[in-house]
Amino acid sequence: MSVLKLYTYPDKILSTPCEEVKKITAETRKLLDDMLETMYADKGVGLAAPQIGLSLKMIVVDDKVGENGEAGPHPMKMVNPEIIEKSSETIFFNEGCLSLPGQCAEVERHAAIKVKYQDENGKEHILEASDYLAVILQHEIDHLSGILYIDHLSRLKRNMIIKKLQKQAQE
Ligand code: CO
Repeated sequence: MSVLKLYTYPDKILSTPCEEVKKITAETRKLLDDMLETMYADKGVGLAAPQIGLSLKMIVVDDKVGENGEAGPHPMKMVNPEIIEKSSETIFFNEGCLSLPGQCAEVERHAAIKVKYQDENGKEHILEASDYLAVILQHEIDHLSGILYIDHLSRLKRNMIIKKLQKQAQE
């Protein structure tokens, strides 16, 4: 496994909608493993393929990552994930993103969702998730449509974060 380069805002790949994975191969499985390793190396709880420069519908998620990036008991690798049901009830969560380093903001999300996806062997599953896991999944699946968490904020808040990122980049 290897740690891959992370693409950060304002790289265009982050705002580009991803293509479906048509065939799951050994290469797909290696990429998913590398994505997990990259996520742990950066102490993240989720990572989407555009963040490593690939416009493909793949995400990895681990809602039980330890403080120093240790793997939890059930890391998830998802190919072609899609939200098929969402609760009308919403929750607010303080979100960050490895592609917008050092920044975070409160985002409103559905409190519970149902996600359809394929595992690394192409088998289809349906996962029901709520609270923290539902938030992570919505954040990562958004990435596959070229949407970042800042796109859910007011223009004022969004611009504030973008300005901070630009300042960081100059330093
Ligand atoms: Co993100």
